[in-house]
Amino acid sequence: MTAILGISAFYHDSAAALVVDGEIVAAAQEERFSRKKFDAAFPTSAVAYCLREAGLRADLLDYIAFYDKPLTKFERLLETYLAFAPQGFRSFCKAMPIWLKEKLHLRRAIREGLPGPSKAKLLFLDHHESHAASAFFPSPFEEAAILTLDGVGEWSTTTLGTGRDNRIALTHHLRFPHSLGLLYSAFTYYCGFKVNSGEYKLMGLAPYGQPVYRDAILQHLIDLKADGSFWLNMEYFNYCQGLTMTGDKFHKLFGGPPRRPESNLLQRHMDLAASIQNVTEEILLRICGDLQWRTGMKNLVLAGGVALNCVANGLLLRNGPFENLWIQPAAGDAGGAIGAALFVWFQLLEHERRPKPHDSQRGSLLGPRFTANEVRALLEQARTDFEWIVDETELLDRVAQLLAEGKVVGWFQDRMEFGPRALGTRSILGDPRVPEMQARMNLQIKFRESFRPFAPAVLLEHAHEWFGLEPNQESPYMLLVAPVREQHRLALSVEQRELMRKDPDLRRRVNVPRSIIPAVTHVDYSARLQTVDAERNRRFYRLLQAFHRRTGCPVLVNTSFNVRGEPIVCTPQDALRCFQATHMDVLVMENAIVTKKPAAYGDLPVVQRPVYED
Ligand SMILES: [Fe+2]
Repeated sequence: MTAILGISAFYHDSAAALVVDGEIVAAAQEERFSRKKFDAAFPTSAVAYCLREAGLRADLLDYIAFYDKPLTKFERLLETYLAFAPQGFRSFCKAMPIWLKEKLHLRRAIREGLPGPSKAKLLFLDHHESHAASAFFPSPFEEAAILTLDGVGEWSTTTLGTGRDNRIALTHHLRFPHSLGLLYSAFTYYCGFKVNSGEYKLMGLAPYGQPVYRDAILQHLIDLKADGSFWLNMEYFNYCQGLTMTGDKFHKLFGGPPRRPESNLLQRHMDLAASIQNVTEEILLRICGDLQWRTGMKNLVLAGGVALNCVANGLLLRNGPFENLWIQPAAGDAGGAIGAALFVWFQLLEHERRPKPHDSQRGSLLGPRFTANEVRALLEQARTDFEWIVDETELLDRVAQLLAEGKVVGWFQDRMEFGPRALGTRSILGDPRVPEMQARMNLQIKFRESFRPFAPAVLLEHAHEWFGLEPNQESPYMLLVAPVREQHRLALSVEQRELMRKDPDLRRRVNVPRSIIPAVTHVDYSARLQTVDAERNRRFYRLLQAFHRRTGCPVLVNTSFNVRGEPIVCTPQDALRCFQATHMDVLVMENAIVTKKPAAYGDLPVVQRPVYED
C-alpha cells in the first residue's frame, strides 16, 4: 500500500487530501473544522481527519506532497519588490515577516502539524502543476488539453499543457504580473467586493449591466493577442507596489474612486461587472482556440481560481472549440492538495491510470460522514423533538411533501463536500416555484439581502427539458451556467419591464418572477445549475425524484448549509446550531426529521440583522 498526503496551506483556503493506491480516499478544507472561513493556517484538523477516514497513523504515510514551492514564491516577492522599489516597501514589510516565519520553515511546520511522527518523504511541487494535476488526473479523459488560470502562484499565472494517460506536461506559461485572475480581482476590488471571495458576486452582478467599458479595458488595461496571451499595463494597477489592487490612473479611466463596501451599487458598477466578464470570456475563448489548435484534442480540463467562473465555462462549452469539458470542483487552491498527491502517484511513481466513465472525484463527497447512531445520540442529548423514519422511501416522500408545502429544509446526509459549493449533502433546500423563496431564504436563513438568485439542483435526465443543455449533458459540480428554456419563462408586464430596466434596488429586480422557477432564474434567465445523478449522490437523487413525482418539477433550490460569514457546516452539531439560530423550518439529518414547533418561533433569538450581501 502507498499512502500519499497532499497539503495546500498558507495562502487561502488550506486543505488536506489523502490518496491511497491512486484512489482519492478523503479530502477536506481546514475552514470546516476550525470554523474560520477560508482558514489559511496549516490544516492540522483536515490532516487528522484524512488519516482517521483511512484508518492510518502518520507513520504509515509514504509521501507528503505540498502544493507549492515556498522558495520560488519568496523569490517572486523579493524580485517584485526590487523591480518596483521603493514604492513597494509597505506591502513588502507586511508580507515578509509572515513569509520568513511560517513559509520558510515549512518542513518543520509540516512535520509538527502531523498527528504523530512520520518518516514520509516530503515533496514540494509546482503550484500550477498541482492545479493541472487536480484537473487532469481525476477527469474521465484518457487525454485532454489542460488550462490553469490563477490569481497568482509562484511566477506563472496561466499555464497550458496536455495530459495523456498518467502524465501531464505544461508547455506554455504567462508570467506574473500578467494575470487574468488578478485582472478580474482588480475589478472585484474596484466594485467594492472582497478580493478572493467576491469574484462570484461580481459575476452575479454582470447580468444587470451592459459591457460599455469593454473597449476601454481592451485599449488601456490589456494588450490582448490573437492567441489569448496578454500583457497588463501595470500603470493602472497597484498590486505589485501597494496594499490595494488599483491605482489612480485606473480610477480616472473608470470615473471615480473604488466603491466603498456596502454602499449603493450604481449602474456604473453593473456595467463594469458586465465589461470585465465580457473581456474574461473573450480571453478564455481565444486561449482555448489556440490551445485546441496546438493540441488537436477534443477534451479540455480546467483548474485554478478563474475556473470557478461558471458563466465563462458555460459559454466555453457552447461556443468554444472543445467537445468535452471537465473542471476540478475544488478549482481554487484547496484542490491543489488533491493535485499534489495525485501527481506523486501517477507522474513521479509512474503508476498506470485508468480513467473512470464519470470521473474519479466521487461526486466530490470526500469529507467526514456521521453515522445514524451519532446523529440520533446528538438529537436525544440535545432534547430535540424529532421523528426517526427508517424506511428511506417514506422518509424522502415526507421531505418532498414538506418542500412542496414551501418549507425550507436543512439537508444533512452522507459525506461533506470538498470544494466551495454545497452539492446536496450539506445543503439548504427549497421549492424553486415559490416566488418569495429567494427573498425568504436570504433574509430568514442566510441573514443577508442578495441580488443573486440561488442555484438549481436538477435530475440529470430532465435537465435538458428545463435548461439549455444537450440531453444527458452533465454539470455535477455546479460549474456551468445555462439559460432556463423559453417554455418555462414568464411574460413580463409593462410595469415589470420598466422596473427590470431601471429600478435602482437590485433586490426588487431579482424578485420579479421571470420563469416558473423564479428562485433560481437570474435577470438574464441564466441559472448556475447542478445536475444530480444516482451514482454520485444517491439519496439526494432519490429526493429529487420524490419531489418530481409529487409536483412535476425535477428542480430544487440548493444553497450551502451555513449562515452569512460562516463556513459550510461539517458536523451534526454545526447543523443543529445553524438550524436553531435561523428560521429554517425543517432539519433532515440522516433518518431524522426535526421540525420547529410554531410556538418556538417566539423564543428564537434575533440572531443578526440582515445586511446587503457584500
Ligand atoms: Fe492557485
